[in-house]
Amino acid sequence: MKAKDILESIFVKEMIEVTTNLYNHGWDERNGGNVSYLLKEEEVIPYINVNKVIREIPMQFDASELATKLFLVTGSGKYFKNVENAPAKNIGLIRIKEDGMSLELLWGLEDEAVPTSELPSHLMTHISRLSVDPNNRIVMHCHASHLLAMTYSHDLDEKSFTRTLWKMCTECLVVFPEGVSIIPWLVPGTNEIGEATAEKMKETRLVVWPHHGIYGAGKDMDEVYGLIETAEKAAEVYTYVQSQGGIKQTITDEQLLDLAEAFGVVPRKEFLESPIALH
Ligand code: 13P
Ligand code: ZN
Repeated sequence: MKAKDILESIFVKEMIEVTTNLYNHGWDERNGGNVSYLLKEEEVIPYINVNKVIREIPMQFDASELATKLFLVTGSGKYFKNVENAPAKNIGLIRIKEDGMSLELLWGLEDEAVPTSELPSHLMTHISRLSVDPNNRIVMHCHASHLLAMTYSHDLDEKSFTRTLWKMCTECLVVFPEGVSIIPWLVPGTNEIGEATAEKMKETRLVVWPHHGIYGAGKDMDEVYGLIETAEKAAEVYTYVQSQGGIKQTITDEQLLDLAEAFGVVPRKEFLESPIALH
């Protein structure tokens, strides 16, 4: 049976759509940002011969927990603005080898391109998220402008950062009730930043990288893009509020609890002020 055109596959179309949106929001200047999408073998088999390995690429960390797993990933140094016009040059389909120390390229990343330099953070995050949510398939990193700005002007304390975001748009608590995590500033592309991010990802699906950007994870592109979009919107509102003279009134903790009850979500209780005193 003749293979179908992979450019017509839902997963490639989703990757094009999300990278284009990230670029259009101004959250991924130049080659900023990276996305990885865990795929099932049955999804890719109609499009490619999974026994045909184009080349092997070594990795400097152990991803054996993901052995044989397939990922659609963005390429290192590739500009999201170009993905739509040249997908095969800017994204690629990879499979983690049995030993977990290298990967096999099955499609794309033409002209000797390689997967994102943030592969340690992506793969380690997939491992973490899968350990708490077997439906996790997406990891997304971008340089969301207002969140990035907030890492200069706001305390980098997870509780206070989360509370500010929760209180800038009513629906934030519903979208990320577990809050956001923050790691220390670390050199991008390293195993160290990957380990720090993945550790935090066991608790929250959003992890802020101070003075750099944000990581999001979840079950599909809409969920993860929506998570980042919601946190970024809250950070944008915070920016306006600060420039309008600061907070005069805000959502109370009592109201946050009412929201949680109405929407059936469980907020991270240590991020609320004296929940016992409130109820
Ligand atoms: P890559 O081009 O290697 O994906 O790196 C972009 C980036 O945002 C690094 O954090
Ligand atoms: Zn980055």
